[in-house]
Order: sequence, then structure tokens, then C-alpha cells
Amino acid sequence: MRALLLENVHPVATTVLEAAGIEVVTRKGALDEQELIDELAGFQLLGIRSKTELTARVCSALPGLLGVGVFAIGTNQVDVLSSAAHGVAVFNAPYSNTRSVVELTIAEIIALTRRLTVLDKALHEGTWDKTAEGAHEVRGRVLGIIGYGNIGSQLSVLAEGIGMRVVFYDTAEKLALGNARRLEAMDELLEMADIVTIHVDGRPGNAGLFGSHQFGRMRPGSLFLNASRGFVVDLAALREHILSGHLGGAAIDVFPMEPKNRGDRFESELRGLPNVILTPHVGGSTEEAQEAIGQFVAGKLRDYVRTGSTTLSVNLPNLQLEHTGVGRIAHLHRNVPGVLAAVNQVFAEHGANIVGQVLATRGEIGYVVTDISDVTQRGASAKLQALDSTIRLRVLDHIQRDELPPGPASAHWASVGVGAPD
Ligand SMILES: NC(=O)c1ccc[n+]([C@@H]2O[C@H](COP(=O)([O-])OP(=O)(O)OC[C@H]3O[C@@H](n4cnc5c(N)ncnc54)[C@H](O)[C@@H]3O)[C@@H](O)[C@H]2O)c1
Repeated sequence: MRALLLENVHPVATTVLEAAGIEVVTRKGALDEQELIDELAGFQLLGIRSKTELTARVCSALPGLLGVGVFAIGTNQVDVLSSAAHGVAVFNAPYSNTRSVVELTIAEIIALTRRLTVLDKALHEGTWDKTAEGAHEVRGRVLGIIGYGNIGSQLSVLAEGIGMRVVFYDTAEKLALGNARRLEAMDELLEMADIVTIHVDGRPGNAGLFGSHQFGRMRPGSLFLNASRGFVVDLAALREHILSGHLGGAAIDVFPMEPKNRGDRFESELRGLPNVILTPHVGGSTEEAQEAIGQFVAGKLRDYVRTGSTTLSVNLPNLQLEHTGVGRIAHLHRNVPGVLAAVNQVFAEHGANIVGQVLATRGEIGYVVTDISDVTQRGASAKLQALDSTIRLRVLDHIQRDELPPGPASAHWASVGVGAPD
């Protein structure tokens, strides 16, 4: 089993994969489509970040490709449907930078409440502006969180820890943590909060969620933060409300149009406004988050290779699987009527003793994993491979990793693509 890790993935990923007996080759840069096809022959696993695209052409040109780790939060660079149709499991790291975003948000709440960037700028320009005017403690202030998911809820806990009162609004039913209060309507939150911070997800319906109406409903002098998605907020409306003095400040980390590369020029109607903190989409960008992403995604690839587990895969049906100590046949198939019956018919014909079986489906893809006491039923796997519905068949033998002799894991884990029965 070999993995090619591109784009400077954190070294911890190599450590995790190598510890599982997987040979790892790393490269600093990204690869384009043709380069990927040329370079990936002989590799079963691929690791990418944001610049390498996993296209339908790459998936169909590389039948041996088993899994792809996206060492990032988003998966826009991946053709999710096509990779699933070719039996390539894709994993990302949706939560590994949650804490980093929360910490930046807390820092900005305090910085805005004390007008730190205004004081800092004046002093750098040579003006000693010692005053308490417009500066506040955050203790006792009301923080309104819109979107109480991973980030919003963790922020809630930390904000209460520094004495803030938390109210939140979420379209989904969410459990309030600590003393936080759930509100039924966003407008109610806007009228109560001294500070409003947005942490909704990037579903298309959230485009333009926050504009003139919402800023107008906020309390005079209140503060606004957005570290979710750029398209959620109307920045021209924000500018107007800052310039009119209705809002006391803002911190924005995400923008509708963001430059592609480090060092590129940044244009925005928010540049130069007082008590407005602008950061280049770095909410989740810390060294700790990069390491956590490396650990998390490499762990998902390792588990998929070892056990067939697809927990949190972005494109395959999710099954959380453990080692059971018996043999395992993992059958990824087109989700058409009668597949399970056909699979079990094959097992019955070969007298296989089924120890356990689980099935999950996701759209057009089904995944059935069967533990049998004798995985050397090679005849059965050849017949399963030949089923019309089969996308990928994997035979995982029962030897625990800890018991394996030194050497590459590939000798013990067989993975078979369509048209290549084992
Ligand atoms: N700035 C950064 O660097 C950075 C890093 C990580 C994540 N993010 C962004 O932060 C956001 C939150 O991430 P998360 O992991 O907490 O997501 P999440 O999916 O866990 O939580 C999002 C929450 O928002 C709620 N929601 C969606 N639409 C809503 C609406 N219109 N009104 C109220 N609630 C709504 C959902 O029900 C959910 O509870 C995402 O947009 C993500 O892309 C930014």
C-alpha cells in the first residue's frame, strides 16, 4: 500500500500512515490533472490540500486509487459524485480548526470592545490617545451567536468563561450549553446583543443572510463579526452602518471575493474604516490546526485501509467499523434493488458463515460489509466482483495490525477494482 501526499501536508500524516505499514511519498507542490494521472500509478492513497483537483477523469484513469485525504476543511476541489461512483473514498477534516476560529473570535471581541486597533494605529503614527471613551469590558456584555454549530457552541462556552452573557439563534434545534439562551428569531437576537457574530454554514440559502435590514436592527454602538463565509454578509451595507456610526466596529475574516495567492492585492469597501479588523481568512489557520488536520485525515485513511471504516467520508455511505478478528468483505455497489440478496446468495452458495453484516446507503451508492469466519472464500469474492452492481470489492484479512510481521501492509490487505478480480 502506497500513499502520495502533495502540497506540504503536515508531517504527522506521514507518521500516522507509516505506523500502519503504508509507504509514503511526499511532494511540496500541487499537481494538475495530467500530472496526477501520470504520477499516481502505483499509489492507492492520495493526500491533497486545496490546490490539487480530484476530477472525474483522474478517478476513471486510476482504478487502483482507493482513498483520497483532503487535508483541509472544504472539499470544493473534489468531484464528490464521480469519486464515489469510482469507489474512491474521500475524507476531509471538518472540525480540526474549530478551536482556532473560536480563539480568533474571542480575541477580536476583546480587541473591538477596547478599540485596540484604533489605539494601536494612533500610537504607531505618533499620537498618545489615552482615553477610556468607547472602551469597555466584555464582562456582562451580551454576545449574540448566529449559527450554533461546532464553532458557535464552542465559542459560547469560552465567552461565558470570560463573563459574557450568551444568546444564540440557529435554524436547527440545538442544545444550549452552560447558561446560553436559545432565541426563536434572529431579529430578537439583534435587538438584544452588544456583539453579533456569525457562524452559519455555507449552504446556498445563506447567501445575503445579513444585510441592511439586519444591521439596522442591531443596537446602536454594537459590534459585528463574521468568520463564516464571505457571501453571507452584504459588505456595502456594513460599510454604511460603520460610517453612519450606528455600529461601533466589526471584524471580518471572510470575503465574497478573496485573492487566490498569498501576497496578492486585496480590494474591499471595508479597507481603512475605523475599528474594523480585517484578516485574510485565517480564522482556522494555525499550526495547531494544521497538525490536527494531518492527524485526523491520515487516521481516516488508515482506518479505511485497515477496517473499511468510512466514518465521516464526504462521498461514501458512512459505516463505523472496528476490527472484529475475523475476515471481512467490503462491497461498494450501485444502490439498486436486490443487491443485498445477491450478495448473500453468493455467500450462501459458498457456505460462508456470516458473523456480522452492516449496510449503509447514500444516494446512488451502497456499502455492505460482511464479516465471515473464513475470508479465504476466494471463489465467493470472485463472484461478488462479477456482480453488475459492484463498484469495488475489498477483502480484508483478519490479521490484526499489531500481529503483522514487519513490511508493507499490502501483503495482507487486498483491494480489487472493477474488472480486476482477486
Ligand atoms: N474563517 C475560517 O477560517 C473558518 C474556518 C472554519 C470554518 N469556517 C466557517 O465557519 C462556519 C461554521 O462552521 P461550523 O463547523 O461551526 O459549522 P456547523 O455546520 O457545525 O454549524 C453551522 C450551524 O449554523 C446553523 N445555521 C445554518 N444556517 C443558518 C441560518 N440561516 N440561521 C441560523 N443558523 C443557521 C446550522 O444549523 C448549524 O448549527 C462555516 O461557514 C465554515 O465554513 C470558517
